[in-house]
Amino acid sequence: MSVFLDACRGEPTSFTPVWIMRQAGRYQPEYRAIREKVGFMELCRSPALCSEVAVRAVEQLNVDAAIVFSDILVVLEPLGVGFEFTKDDGPRIAQPVRTAKDVDRVVSEIELGALSYVMDAIRTTKKDLAGRVPLIGFAGAPFTLASYIIEGGSSREYHNTKSLMFSDAGAWNALMRKISDALIRYLNAQIDAGAECLQIFDSWVGALGPSDYVRYVQPHMQRIFGALGDRVPVIHFGTGNPALLPYMRRAGGHVIGLDHRCDLVETWNLLEKDGPIAVQGNLDPVLLLSSRKALLDRAEQLLEDVAGRRGHIFNLGHGVLPAAKPDDVRALVDRVHEASVRTSPARPSLLPTKA
Ligand code: CP3
Repeated sequence: MSVFLDACRGEPTSFTPVWIMRQAGRYQPEYRAIREKVGFMELCRSPALCSEVAVRAVEQLNVDAAIVFSDILVVLEPLGVGFEFTKDDGPRIAQPVRTAKDVDRVVSEIELGALSYVMDAIRTTKKDLAGRVPLIGFAGAPFTLASYIIEGGSSREYHNTKSLMFSDAGAWNALMRKISDALIRYLNAQIDAGAECLQIFDSWVGALGPSDYVRYVQPHMQRIFGALGDRVPVIHFGTGNPALLPYMRRAGGHVIGLDHRCDLVETWNLLEKDGPIAVQGNLDPVLLLSSRKALLDRAEQLLEDVAGRRGHIFNLGHGVLPAAKPDDVRALVDRVHEASVRTSPARPSLLPTKA
């Protein structure tokens, strides 16, 4: 029984479930203290530390779901694309993939053994959560992963990514297929290890317009969602371009993750023209760097707009920023729980116990 999983399936819930993307991370002093002692990948490779930070986020925030501590880029290693997290510039890929020849050196059928530490982190975190809240597994989507593999790191314009896509569709599709095959294996293994929900992060797909999304990305997404089926609910999240959302929805997913650049209710109505769908979102993460009053007022406004409609999971529109204050994040979660009951009187008041 889980309010979060019920909401993913569009079933009625007694309050609005909430979790926060990147709820374990640098905004927490305890996380920063661990990172003084261990490198980021060392942390990702330690199931005990991964569980510690994931469970701490749940306990501190009283959120309704945990997310396994890892990163979308860990799948690059079994794909044969070496990378590291640099101290200041984020991820660096040693030899970016830019040509058809480069695509040939990307591994076709990944060895899951190289990612066994992620599955171990899932098992350890599940054990430590002891059934309190469900555990979300995750991966990056092929476009977002391809953008790192091709650019060699973070990017603004996606110049190299789009150049390969536009100039050599064969090489592009071959790369997207290799990444998709890896993700199908990896995500199914996360479910086998105990993940009760998955989120696929297509964080940078908003760089594309709808026609290019449909041509170069959607078929790959459809294949991934088809291969995962209905084993667990899957959240399909992207940012940056609300015009893509109807096409993302058609690609698949039980829940569509909305960022803060769209109106949640208006977008939900639009997406439901194709039938019922759950949505997640979508408070602007920068509200956590503003005043507490502005933050809580906006959260409450969003809940009033949603008015207890089935299938809403509250979240930010994108990950919590390192400058956010843990007390504000906790106040946000408490307000969502409380206001979701108050603004929707039809619901029985069964709030989660305060930790
Ligand atoms: O509780 C959680 O959600 C934490 C698990 C998590 C991390 N990364 C840990 C992390 C998740 C779900 C991610 C996803 C992720 N990683 C995405 C998609 C989400 C999004 O924000 O769009 C992306 C694009 C990445 C790639 C990535 N990882 C970058 C670009 C960076 C460096 C810059 C940055 O944002 O920190 C990372 C590093 C990273 N991943 C950190 C954490 C906590 C910070 C590393 C540190 O401790 O120094």
